[in-house]
Amino acid sequence: MVKRRTSIHGQWSSRLAFILAATGSAVGLGNIWKFPYITGENGGGAFVLVYLLCIALIGLPVMMAEIMLGRRGRQSPINTMRLLAEEEGKNSFWKYLGWLGMLAGFLILSYYSVIAGWALAYVFRTAAGAFTGATADGVDSIFAQLVADPERLLAWHTIFLVMTMMVVARGVRSGLERAVRFLMPALLGLLLLLVGYAMAQGQFAEGLRFMFKPDFSKLLSGDAVLVAMGHAFFTLSLGMGAIMMYGSYLPAKTSIAKVSIAVAVADTLVALMAGLAIFPIVFAYGLDPAEGAGLIFKTLPIAFGQMPAGTLFGALFFVLLVFAAWSSAISLIEPAVAWLVENHGVSRVYASVWCGLAVWLIGLGTVFSFNAWSGFKVFGMTIFDMLDYLTSNIMLPLGGLFIAIFSAWIMKKASVREELDMRSSGAFDYWYILVRFVTPIGVVLVFLRAINVI
Ligand code: TRP
Repeated sequence: MVKRRTSIHGQWSSRLAFILAATGSAVGLGNIWKFPYITGENGGGAFVLVYLLCIALIGLPVMMAEIMLGRRGRQSPINTMRLLAEEEGKNSFWKYLGWLGMLAGFLILSYYSVIAGWALAYVFRTAAGAFTGATADGVDSIFAQLVADPERLLAWHTIFLVMTMMVVARGVRSGLERAVRFLMPALLGLLLLLVGYAMAQGQFAEGLRFMFKPDFSKLLSGDAVLVAMGHAFFTLSLGMGAIMMYGSYLPAKTSIAKVSIAVAVADTLVALMAGLAIFPIVFAYGLDPAEGAGLIFKTLPIAFGQMPAGTLFGALFFVLLVFAAWSSAISLIEPAVAWLVENHGVSRVYASVWCGLAVWLIGLGTVFSFNAWSGFKVFGMTIFDMLDYLTSNIMLPLGGLFIAIFSAWIMKKASVREELDMRSSGAFDYWYILVRFVTPIGVVLVFLRAINVI
């Protein structure tokens, strides 16, 4: 039995605090912005089905593994991986898994912050009544004007990043715990309202059919399967150490299985609700579900422009979207900040400033992807597209693959069982089979399928 370690960065005050923070990390732009638009691009139902399978068979087991590793190591992912590998008598190159994750965090946050900036801009546009009575064309041109203007995008990107680094600098616990406690329920309430609106005013039946009636002829390009799996990692914040970091603040006795299920279910519900709010409007106004990254910014404002008190609800919706993005963004950079504090003895504030600057710089690539450099494409992808593809579809699944391998092949089963501490040993065995076989084989098959080997 190893001596119980504690984290130098603090601990969550309760199980609920962890669930809220991890849900805050998981629920974000991934659910409300990305899930609807990639579902639209990949033909709907069959894609959603594969995504749900990936959540259940790959995402959930990897989430438990990440929390388990984090709680056992109680440090930033790089140091946790190094420590656990040494403790198990294995090669310390496992620390590079932590490095891969840290890099992924920087890259993801760099574009995440730009998109969150769009949401910030939309708070003010909506509140000022820009969408009142607007047609689909009008809404479209407001979006086009925003992304065509690099100065605006840069300003909002900067503001969002400063907001993020301020919370990180204060420490996750005092900054974050209080915020998510009421934001998550509020976001859920507003989403329900939007689904209600879509039900009453949109083509709800068509939206349902699009999302839940699988048409496999649309899906089975290998790339769509890869995108579905990559998104399962992205939306649950897995594969780069964010959840590992949050797990390192988890009190010793908390059931890892229960909290993981709670987070995965909440995250999935929010994504499905976002889809149900958006697609009925898409079909009611004859818009294109495969519109791309601007989808929610071109559909929801139409609804806000038509509904009673839409200015108020619309502004509120974008405020909550910003908060959801905020509580996710924090987790993307927390591992890097924690590592700087641990290894270089700097203060959290100092570490946050430097990480923030680095992310800000990389973010310029995304800012210009939509305007000045929109013609610059490699394999048909802009810088934004490439960052998204590389991180979600390659780095996160690779990270998840190695997390599964480390937990179920490298660590001693006894250590894993001890840390996971599950009440029922049947449930433990079931999880162990998933991380040992199903997850790694699943990830590898999807990779092979994407490069057309199978
Ligand atoms: N899960 C968040 C979302 O859906 C994004 C996110 C936060 C994330 N932390 C992460 C994605 C870590 C991958 C890895 O918006």
